[in-house]
Formats: sequence, C-alpha cells, structure tokens
Amino acid sequence: MLSLGGTMAALGHTVAPDEIVKNSFANYAFENYEIAAYTSLRTLAELAGVNQAADLLGRSLDEEVAMAEWVEVQIVPLTQKFAALSASEEAAKK
Ligand SMILES: [Fe+2]
Repeated sequence: MLSLGGTMAALGHTVAPDEIVKNSFANYAFENYEIAAYTSLRTLAELAGVNQAADLLGRSLDEEVAMAEWVEVQIVPLTQKFAALSASEEAAKK
C-alpha cells in the first residue's frame, strides 16, 4: 500500500518538466510518512508488551530515518544538476 502511494506520486509528476526534482520531494515525504507509521506501530507494540515486534519495528524505523536523511541530502545536488542541465538546454535553443 505504501509503495503504491509512492508510485502514484511519481506517475503524477511524469508530465512535469521537472519531474525528477518533484519525485525527490515525493520520496522525501514518503520516507517521512513511513517514519511516522513505524513510530506509531512500535509504540503500539510496546504498549501491547510485544517486545520482539517492537525491536523489529525499531530497526525498520532506523532504516527509514537513514533513507529520509539520504533523500534529503540529495535534494540540493539534484536541484543544482537539474538547473544546470535546464540552463544548458535553454542555451542550446538560442
Ligand atoms: Fe522507506
């Protein structure tokens, strides 16, 4: 279900000339959605006393946090590269 949401967001950007940049926004939002979901699920597991599940959910949460951080770091260089390529395309048209 979560994967479907990300795919639908990407499909919505396919007609935009800056789809690669917008897809990075969607990826960042999606990773943060997953962080919230795993945080909530881990809390429920802790409340239920299911410690093994809470530990596993905590590991998944750590992975999502790492991925969100990676995606965030990519936004600036991706935007810079997109701007440079767009500028060179515009220059080539002149
Ligand atoms: Fe993720």
